[in-house]
Amino acid sequence: MTKLFIKTFGCQMNKLDSELILGQLLALGYEEADSPNHADVILFNTCSVRRHAEERVFSRVGALKARKRREPDLLIGVIGCMAQKDAVEVRRRLPHVGLVCGTRMLHRLPELIEEARRRPPVLAVETPDGFCLRRSGSFRRNTFQAFVAAMRGCDNFCSYCVVPYVRGREVSRPIDDIEDEAKRLVDDGCVEITLLGQNIDSYGKRLSPRVDLADLLVRLDRIAGLRRIRFVTSHPRDFSDAMISAIAELPSVCENVHLPPQSGSDRILKLMKRGYASAYYRDLAAKLRREVPEVTVAADFIVGFPTETDADFQQSCSLLQDVGFQNSFIFKYSPRPGTAAADMTDDVPSEEKARRNNFLLDLQKQVSLAQKTALVGTTHEVLVEGISKRDSSKLMGRARTNHIVVFEGPPGLEGKFVNVRVTSCTPLTLFGVLAPQDAS
Ligand code: SAH
Ligand code: SF4
Ligand code: F3S
Repeated sequence: MTKLFIKTFGCQMNKLDSELILGQLLALGYEEADSPNHADVILFNTCSVRRHAEERVFSRVGALKARKRREPDLLIGVIGCMAQKDAVEVRRRLPHVGLVCGTRMLHRLPELIEEARRRPPVLAVETPDGFCLRRSGSFRRNTFQAFVAAMRGCDNFCSYCVVPYVRGREVSRPIDDIEDEAKRLVDDGCVEITLLGQNIDSYGKRLSPRVDLADLLVRLDRIAGLRRIRFVTSHPRDFSDAMISAIAELPSVCENVHLPPQSGSDRILKLMKRGYASAYYRDLAAKLRREVPEVTVAADFIVGFPTETDADFQQSCSLLQDVGFQNSFIFKYSPRPGTAAADMTDDVPSEEKARRNNFLLDLQKQVSLAQKTALVGTTHEVLVEGISKRDSSKLMGRARTNHIVVFEGPPGLEGKFVNVRVTSCTPLTLFGVLAPQDAS
């Protein structure tokens, strides 16, 4: 029996891909190893979005060189975004890697692994059209929550971003396919689905007949037993009024969006080729909050983009405060070769990037704390995810708004919905106690 271990870097799409790959291979008789040390095949599912992410892969895979010498039959594979972007460099720097498989060849991984075990190295980075990595077998890491890919790829070419190069152009799955998969998941006990797409709000762009994300949400909302639907990541420019109505009106669509502004400065937004100005973003957030008062909005910001001055940065700070994000993922700009921004001088010194990063994180902390403090005394429906990582005597779950909620409760609640009344908070977490439960 071949033992397999997959180490995943990067975004939720990569997490989903790893789960689909594992499901595919388990169905073929592979067994999952509990650690790389006990595996015959080790796959690294990689991310290229920042240089740091790539360096981590080079060092993790590099560390396996001696073991590969001792165990010549061990197959080490580098798959996903880095493999797609830099297959040749990966092989050159990591000659003990026997398989390099890009994002567009992942559906052929079972045969590629067999080939690489017989005759390494195997490099697979072609880009066939209509590629789709399907769910096969019954493997799921978690029975009550699932990721479902609605579309893959990105047509936006934001000037700093490598994703369109490593994931290719946008391809949406037919609405019936997604609906069928969702129904099967719900029949299997799933109560929450998160739809994934690098640019989820342009779902359906090339489908005929033309449909959009709001249409997909309407379809999925009709599935009995599917209590929660989430979707990531949204592009502000493509976030339509129909989407605002979908969140406001469809009972299963959660009141939370990940809507990255990237910057609050119009000059920087233009250089980033984001296709909107900060006033547009503010109006959109205000409209969303008017229609859905309890909505929470998560942000991504890049600090230290080429030519970003302190005045530009201050505009990101005020956007963060004025919109009042639930949380912000903040990234120091990292030039990606081949992107448009890589032709600009990376002129913000790294200490200054670090300072802006920490400053924005501090601001976000204050905003988060104020927002959560206002929730003390309110009651939320929480989907219990398991034991709290920080305190094993407590349970942890999420509210519809994606707030993390920690509370004391009896065992056996995992995957169940409970009402929790908030009693205290930190910037990251709501703490509470079980409240009277609904009759349902
Ligand atoms: N498709 C999503 C996410 C893309 S990558 C979206 O458009 O929102 C996730 C985040 O990484 C981006 O939102 C951006 O904030 C950050 N990022 C992308 N490229 C980067 C780069 N070159 N340097 C620093 N951060 C980057
Ligand atoms: Fe990258 Fe922009 Fe596409 Fe997001 S929308 S994946 S940041 S190119
Ligand atoms: Fe990284 Fe690829 Fe996701 S570059 S962010 S793993 S799409």
